[in-house]
Amino acid sequence: MASKPWGGRFGEKTDRRVEQFTESISFDRRLFEHDIRASIAHAEMLAHVGLITHDECQQIVRGLSDIRAEIEADQFEFVLEREDVHMHVEAALIDRLGDVGRKLHTARSRNDQVATDVKLWVRDGLDRIGARLTDLQRALVDAAERHREVILPGYTHLQRAQPVLAPHYFLAYVEKFARDRDRLTDTRRRLNVLPLGAAALAGTTLPIDRDHVAKALGFEGVAANSMDVSSDRDFALESVFDLTMIAEHLSGWAEEWVLWSTQEFSFLALPDAICTGSSIMPQKKNPDVLELIRGRTARVIGALNTLLVLIKGLPLAYNRDLQEDKEPIFDAFDTVEACLELAAVVVAGATLRADRIAERLDEGFLDATTLMEYLISQGVPQRSAHEVIGHLVSLCEQKGCRRLVDLPDDDFAKAHPNLGPGVKSVLGVANAVKAFRSHGSTAPDQVEKQLAAWKTRLLPS
Ligand code: ARG
Repeated sequence: MASKPWGGRFGEKTDRRVEQFTESISFDRRLFEHDIRASIAHAEMLAHVGLITHDECQQIVRGLSDIRAEIEADQFEFVLEREDVHMHVEAALIDRLGDVGRKLHTARSRNDQVATDVKLWVRDGLDRIGARLTDLQRALVDAAERHREVILPGYTHLQRAQPVLAPHYFLAYVEKFARDRDRLTDTRRRLNVLPLGAAALAGTTLPIDRDHVAKALGFEGVAANSMDVSSDRDFALESVFDLTMIAEHLSGWAEEWVLWSTQEFSFLALPDAICTGSSIMPQKKNPDVLELIRGRTARVIGALNTLLVLIKGLPLAYNRDLQEDKEPIFDAFDTVEACLELAAVVVAGATLRADRIAERLDEGFLDATTLMEYLISQGVPQRSAHEVIGHLVSLCEQKGCRRLVDLPDDDFAKAHPNLGPGVKSVLGVANAVKAFRSHGSTAPDQVEKQLAAWKTRLLPS
């Protein structure tokens, strides 16, 4: 049996059930690369300040690199007795180097070590998610370009509201994902402070140089309070919240596209390659990818909840509860990364069914608000104009007219003296869209500007 690195004060072997209960190697082995990266930086610092010799440092660095290669090649043996990734790597080093290996843990505790490893892992994860968000934004901008001429009914309460240009619709999601990316950047900045050197909770009596380690690992600074370091998982919570926002955005979009791909909507054509069939109903073609993106959001929200409840009520400094942070963190990152990848595939493959959408654009009085604003622009108070157009819509319904433009001129003139033949210039969805002008609206020139701006912003750098 491998002896425990903390075995000195113990007179008994650890109960097997305790080992099984307390181990984290089954999931924290994923941290091995970051653990080794941090250990190399730590060893180099120890040599820099004279706590180990340069020769010892070289041996340690070589040993750690070999261990990394072994793990990568799947030739490394993981055993329950060695509990977690930190103890595995260190024990393997001691197996190789003896006393030199026994020096690596100088001025370090697993508490600051695990905080550092997880930070490094999360930081890489944030960068990967950021890149995936950009890919998805590019796919959305591309879809906006492909559907430049399409007019869509915009909805509120899932009821037809006002017409919008399809590019305006796609760019709405580009904006949401831009905020998501900003959140990642912001989280990364706050995260990017080195924990290592806090040791167990109080720091160390040894003359370490934490700035040296920070620089080697790409941290912007050094955490100021060692007790804070041992207990701090804010960065994990914030990151998983950021991921939850992304998942929420994806989920709403997926729901919308599930609806849009129904016979009832018929707004969307999805290629066979991204749909699945039914084992019993031969005619079926189902949008399972979209449904799973919507469904997997539950996992991410679950991960955030797990972390929130985990941290709640923990006294300073390190508590073993914190070991439970890893699985929800890993799962949230894995899930959102996969969802983002597939979302980009779906967006790239989907086509709006412009003909089917156009056939029904006359339904729902999408131009009613534009007509109301036509009156307002002539000095009619908004509340009065609202009422006048409301009556006209009601008249259409009584007379069985689908469109306001189908009402006889007389009805317009009777409804309000300002509703002369000029109304024809704003009625109909095409006219209604052209009539928009405010900043950020679906006005064609506004949308073109936004599209051009996003194309530039998303150019590969
Ligand atoms: N596996 C542990 C974790 O993930 C590492 C830190 C253990 N520290 C300790 N004092 N037992 O939190």
